[in-house]
Amino acid sequence: MSNSQLEHHIDQRRTFAIISHPDAGKTTITEKVLLFGRAIQQAGTVKGRGSNQHAKSDWMDMEKERGISITTSVMQFPYNDCLVNLLDTPGHEDFSEDTYRTLTAVDSCLMVIDTAKGVEDRTRKLMEVTRLRDTPIVTFMNKLDRDIRDPMEVLDEVESELNIMCAPITWPIGCGKEFKGVYHIHRDETILYSTGQGHTIQELRTVKGLDNPDLDEAVGEELAAQLREELELVMGASNEFDHELFLEGELTPVYFGTALGNFGVDHMLDGLTKWAPAPLPRQTSERQIDAKEEKFSGFVFKIQANMDPKHRDRIAFMRIVSGSYKQGMKMNHVRLGKNISISDAVTFMAGDRSRAEEAFAGDIIGLHNHGTIQIGDTFTQGENLKFSGIPNFAPELFRRIRLKDPLKQKQLLKGLVQLSEEGAVQVFRPMQNNDLIVGAVGVLQFDVVVARLKAEYNVEAIYEGVNVATARWVECDDAKKLEEFKRKNQMNLALDGGDNLSYIAPTMVNLNLAQERFPDVAFRSTREH
Ligand code: G4P
Repeated sequence: MSNSQLEHHIDQRRTFAIISHPDAGKTTITEKVLLFGRAIQQAGTVKGRGSNQHAKSDWMDMEKERGISITTSVMQFPYNDCLVNLLDTPGHEDFSEDTYRTLTAVDSCLMVIDTAKGVEDRTRKLMEVTRLRDTPIVTFMNKLDRDIRDPMEVLDEVESELNIMCAPITWPIGCGKEFKGVYHIHRDETILYSTGQGHTIQELRTVKGLDNPDLDEAVGEELAAQLREELELVMGASNEFDHELFLEGELTPVYFGTALGNFGVDHMLDGLTKWAPAPLPRQTSERQIDAKEEKFSGFVFKIQANMDPKHRDRIAFMRIVSGSYKQGMKMNHVRLGKNISISDAVTFMAGDRSRAEEAFAGDIIGLHNHGTIQIGDTFTQGENLKFSGIPNFAPELFRRIRLKDPLKQKQLLKGLVQLSEEGAVQVFRPMQNNDLIVGAVGVLQFDVVVARLKAEYNVEAIYEGVNVATARWVECDDAKKLEEFKRKNQMNLALDGGDNLSYIAPTMVNLNLAQERFPDVAFRSTREH
């Protein structure tokens, strides 16, 4: 392939994820986005719906339909002249590590806000994460078919609470039962809403120009007058769209609509494909890698288990950072220093899991993993690089895990180590006893682990309380001091799933004391893979 062909493919790519608070409409928007991407025929077919509300039971259901859950993990579809990759962020109640790492694999985010509620907790937290890389944000104000708050006020709230400037691209006309549509500021036209067409792509009526009498006729004189008045205010008080500021993550274009009514989602997609960045460079231990470099490189940000019941395999999700993948190509698995030939990577075109013949920077491919691939692993075409910024978080909740049938200890350990490689939980093995301690960032993860141990490893395990308040990964450059530290702290030391030395503290006071006593030892709350 020539350089210009490669560049063309890469320029077409848009890779994004949705950030929102549970119930704001992420699942519904995903459905509509796929509808516009012609990936599904009719909205209402995306599985895993409502997974935020009933995370546990839905997870079990998803397990039963493993072949399907993958389609909601990564979805690729064409839109306008672009090829869009939408990465699903897990919808657990808990802030999960998986979510964080997924956000390292995208180049932009869509923030969905329930306009009746405004800025909510999880959105705040996820926005903080996107700020670490100044990811460009597109905003969709959802649920205009309900009685919402004053849009101006919600924009103010976004600006002040999330510290990002808002540039409305569309502006709503009425809301709730009186929702009439939006005026598109850039196109200088009103797009009229009609109800009852949430499941199909609608034929929309538009009215050109703001002073057009047709507008008064279409939405009523009162709402037309209100729109003109509001727009004057908005234009005066809010920011104009600025592409540079958007790319720097300082300004977000804002769209209004209703995902349920399938209105406004296409305006948002138009903006996203037009303005969101093509695949961005990524930092490695050695140097920055540009997407258009000829040589292939990528990193693994997520591992998902046994999605295809026939194969009982695990899939490692890799974000391609540069160059292109071709079926059968050789890759250097940097951590293992091994050259491997990959012939059966999967892509996620149109929500289908199919074999990839070709994929480009910005795309996600799935590698079949038989336990050799870990989260954070880098693959290249030769060079020994390591992509940075894909961390593990120190867990905040701990339980001892015990078998119902003591003969299956080996199976249990194997299962736990594999689940920890996936990043589902952390497992700690204290150095002084045979306990197995499971650590999680969110409480839901405990249930998931027991269910999966049973389903996938055929072991029945139960939890017991354990006196651990926190864990830290321990490092020290001075081998002698490390030895001394180890000798004096045997009681509190453990190895994690990847055999990394960890300090498990019964109380925060204990941790603070240990840190004071051993100032040369680093106690890390995150660990880079
Ligand atoms: P989530 O993935 O962000 O958690 O949200 P989801 O799309 O599941 O939407 C949460 C609820 O909000 C759903 O209702 C959904 O139908 C509704 N919803 C989403 N977008 C809109 C919208 O534009 N307008 C209105 N009025 N409602 C919207 P539910 O009753 O919880 O679920 P369901 O019974 O409809 O599946």
